[in-house]
Amino acid sequence: MVPFRAEWLPACRDVLAGLPEWFAPSAVEGYAADLTRFPSWVACVHGEPPALGCVTVSAPQAAAFEVHLLAVARERHRQGVGSLLLAVAERWARHCKARYLHVKTAGAGQPGAHFERTRAFYLARGFTPLFESDRLWGPDNPALVLVKAL
Ligand SMILES: CC(C)(COP(=O)(O)OP(=O)(O)OC[C@H]1O[C@@H](n2cnc3c(N)ncnc32)[C@H](O)[C@@H]1OP(=O)(O)O)[C@@H](O)C(=O)NCCC(=O)NCCS
Repeated sequence: MVPFRAEWLPACRDVLAGLPEWFAPSAVEGYAADLTRFPSWVACVHGEPPALGCVTVSAPQAAAFEVHLLAVARERHRQGVGSLLLAVAERWARHCKARYLHVKTAGAGQPGAHFERTRAFYLARGFTPLFESDRLWGPDNPALVLVKAL
């Protein structure tokens, strides 16, 4: 895991662009920009591209940080990379004295099996579903908020 630096931007963009079911092509640039705005880390081998995955943590509240972005390259899924990235995010949040880490993802009301896998990941990593709302991302896009006490 290395802290994100600007040189990692193309490699992280590649990870996001390779996951269009989760990150719509029109949203990739925005997410890539967020890597530069918020504390972010990159998973890689020997400190060099390609990126295996990346994570970004924001702090909407001092005691409740958010996993703003988490993505693992498709060919690396289910090899523990996401767990390692999440562990870095949790360590950072704890270091900053946050008490909770939360994340928004697509709720069960949305079609498609891919977000089911995302929810399974967060449940396996100790997150608890808090509520689902169609007011966060709009009625066509119900969002599930999950939270973990640190
Ligand atoms: C969700 C994501 C970050 C998980 O990363 P990962 O590296 O594949 O996950 P890990 O290998 O660390 O998995 C840890 C545990 O989560 C659960 N899990 C992960 N993927 C799963 C899947 N597809 N189905 C069921 N459970 C799953 C398992 O319990 C797994 O442990 P195990 O493999 O020992 O059974 C990754 O799949 C990804 O980038 N998905 C696309 C983008 C995304 O969903 N981002 C989050 C948006 S909020």
